[in-house]
Amino acid sequence: SRVLSVASECAPLIKTGGLGDVVGALPAALAPQGVEMKVLLPGYPAVLTGLEGVREVMREDDLAGGTGRVLAARRAGLDLLVLDAPHLFDRDGSPYLGPDGRDWPDNPERFAALSLVAARIGRMGVDGWHPDVLHCHDWQAGFAPLFMQRMEGGRPAGSVMTIHNMAFHGLAPQERIEALGLPRDDFNSDGYEFWGHVSALKAGLVHADRLTTVSPNYARELMTPEFGMGLDGVIRARRADLCGILNGIDTEAWDPAHDPHIARFRSGRGKSRAKRALLEEFGLAEGSGPLAIVVSRLTEQKGLDLLLEALPRFVELGGQLALLGSGNADLEERWREAARAHDGVGVVIGYDEALSHRMMAGADAILVPSRFEPCGLTQLYGLRYGTVPVVALTGGLADTVIHASPAALAAGAATGIQFWPAATDPLIGALEHLVALYGDDRTWSKIIRNAMRQPVGWNVSAQAYAELYREIGQS
Ligand code: ADP
Ligand code: GLC
Repeated sequence: SRVLSVASECAPLIKTGGLGDVVGALPAALAPQGVEMKVLLPGYPAVLTGLEGVREVMREDDLAGGTGRVLAARRAGLDLLVLDAPHLFDRDGSPYLGPDGRDWPDNPERFAALSLVAARIGRMGVDGWHPDVLHCHDWQAGFAPLFMQRMEGGRPAGSVMTIHNMAFHGLAPQERIEALGLPRDDFNSDGYEFWGHVSALKAGLVHADRLTTVSPNYARELMTPEFGMGLDGVIRARRADLCGILNGIDTEAWDPAHDPHIARFRSGRGKSRAKRALLEEFGLAEGSGPLAIVVSRLTEQKGLDLLLEALPRFVELGGQLALLGSGNADLEERWREAARAHDGVGVVIGYDEALSHRMMAGADAILVPSRFEPCGLTQLYGLRYGTVPVVALTGGLADTVIHASPAALAAGAATGIQFWPAATDPLIGALEHLVALYGDDRTWSKIIRNAMRQPVGWNVSAQAYAELYREIGQS
């Protein structure tokens, strides 16, 4: 099938989190399944640089108050359609935030414009290419299925809406309905209205033919008030159309035997060189306990405030911690402070892809104490690098880690440690468990071996997406 993937991020061009990784990985993962996928992206400066074979293939003269041109191009092995609309996307820095650290006020218009262009291509095709399916990712592409349904001409493609994170709704005040070009008739509780506001995410959830999310467990959780973020009723109403398809990782970019960023290794025993280098890089002395890492956005979701509270106990037990992250200014400051307070704790505030590889290689464990986690990718990197995941039992973290229970240890199946609820005491319990397991050489080596053997690539999930596209294309 021919699929147009519509998203606001796509690695390696533009990425703020796992969404970028997944959108960037799908085309190559799906090609062997006979899926021809193009990606429609906003023309941020980072996306417009380095494009190859650029051709203008479509033009919208009145797109949210300016001209939008769609450029067909290639970069990094990807077949791209780039929406070049300088009045919307020619801004430096984060795709979503202005220099003051707040959402750009016209974010609704920016991503409605992306969605409108996607819908047009879904109906009319572009450059002689007509997609069978629009694959819309998160709220930024949420209006596309609605626009496509309400538009005239051509023939509509099928549509899939993938929820990478239910926490972001893409809200706008209802006064903007006309400016966003939305049909007023659908502004009701069965449509894109959410408590008196316009919701791009809800538009996608209501109007797409099929819904997916990024792990089977999160698909179940989304039906509950605890995780549904106010949209659990919408999800329950559409449960027959929803499935969870687990994310994979790029097993070539993340391969300890070939990773150019690290002193390479093939088994857990080879990790010690990388560990020494990492301790040194973070200014930590050699310790007796496990070296744990965190690589994460610093937001409420990720539960790193809980880790701050659990930290004194972990350090007391001989544990060491290296954290790489950025985000919430208050959390950034509290982590800097923690590094000053504890000899065994090193912190880098920032975003650094290469450093994240060196951390994954050198650490003993990776901590992911999230309050919710649709899938999570860093625990998968951890498995691949023999860096044992210690995770909250939620979302995709529950689907990808096998807890070191007595039974799992006896069966030789354990790959990590899980705890729940996401609260300080259970986290402390998990860290104590980590220290104990680390101290038992035979058990620890076995866990690392199991972890490194887990399949974490795209094979199985690529088949699931290809099958889904075929079903939609036929209906
Ligand atoms: P989320 O999408 O919620 O942020 P994921 O675990 O799915 O969580 O994906 C996060 C991605 O971003 C991973 O590829 C991770 O390695 C990367 N990442 C997050 N923070 C940083 C950072 N400070 N430096 C480098 N990479 C980071
Ligand atoms: C979101 C989620 C994360 C998931 C990623 C990619 O950002 O927070 O859990 O792995 O999307 O699907």
